[in-house]
Amino acid sequence: MKIAIHNSKTGFHPHWIAYCAEKQIPFKLVDCYADDLIDQLRGCQALMWHHGQQNPKDLAIAKQILFALEHTGLQVFPNFNTAWHFDDKLGQKYLFERLGLPFVPTYAFYEKETALSWAKSTTYPKVFKLRGGAGSSNVKLVYTQKQAIQIIKKAFGSGFSNYNAWDSLKERWYKFRKGKASIHEPIKGLLRFFQAPPFAKALGKEYHYVYFQDFIPKNEFDLRIIVIGNKAFGLKRLVRDGDFRASGSGVFEYDLSKHQDVIQIAFTASSNLNANCAAFDFIYDSKLKPLIVEVSYGFGTKGSSKCPGYWDRELNWHEGKFNPQGWMVEIVNNKIT
Ligand SMILES: Nc1ncnc2c1ncn2[C@@H]1O[C@H](COP(=O)(O)OP(=O)(O)O)[C@@H](O)[C@H]1O
Ligand SMILES: [Mg+2]
Repeated sequence: MKIAIHNSKTGFHPHWIAYCAEKQIPFKLVDCYADDLIDQLRGCQALMWHHGQQNPKDLAIAKQILFALEHTGLQVFPNFNTAWHFDDKLGQKYLFERLGLPFVPTYAFYEKETALSWAKSTTYPKVFKLRGGAGSSNVKLVYTQKQAIQIIKKAFGSGFSNYNAWDSLKERWYKFRKGKASIHEPIKGLLRFFQAPPFAKALGKEYHYVYFQDFIPKNEFDLRIIVIGNKAFGLKRLVRDGDFRASGSGVFEYDLSKHQDVIQIAFTASSNLNANCAAFDFIYDSKLKPLIVEVSYGFGTKGSSKCPGYWDRELNWHEGKFNPQGWMVEIVNNKIT
């Protein structure tokens, strides 16, 4: 019984490989981009692949390969229920609404006229987002009806790029000033004015839909709660100075003792989603009710690897170091042995 692991030195892959080696779980490295992938998988019962939202090769094919393999009986991580909505806030809207999960009120339109008449009758501010994106890059506050109308016209006109060179430069400069990035970051940001990153080219233009949410004010942080199987851990991500957006700020806090209710909601939501691995973002509304912002099977490990412990489903706290990528391997291994 062998687990195939995509041969990569980035993301979860090295952790999976190290865990299998340490626990003597049989594994084989495969190249998921190779034309003979199906031959490479011979003798394997599972495939683990940490595909990303900014890798043009992954964007081109990762989900389809994994779904095709799962369709034909292989165990995969992430599986369909875990990842079909990865980096797709539009798809998630319908999923959360249908499951009745506490979700930030969200509006999506596929017809210009319907969007315009909504914009003329709703209240402001609202939050405008593209369906994909990370680190708050495609998330903007819309203060007025006039701005919303401009956005709608663009969404149904020339469309939006997945990469905004100006916003990205501002973000890189902010990170540099905060000591979270070297001077190379803003320099790279300047060069990006002349050439968009490959992932943005792979994604093409965001066109013929528009996505808004109610703006939930006064959140000084969001809560990122990661549920893997029957275990959960999490952290606070503080918003940037003078901004409402936490994702990508790089500033973390770890005391979640006052947020047990959110851990419980995350466990319930992950069961409802039938997900093996789900990182939820939460914010609080004015009545202090936690609301889901989005979900993602993949998550950054810079902040989350420093979490001081985890909860089980009975909300017992387990203090000390733990290995979330090892839990992922165990989930897959339990299915094939
Ligand atoms: N509707 C909202 N109201 C208030 N703050 C929000 C809202 N949606 C997102 N945010 C803030 O913006 C950040 C980025 O939004 P998110 O949708 O998670 O985008 P990303 O995919 O870039 O992480 C969140 O971490 C949260 O702090
Ligand atoms: Mg987010």
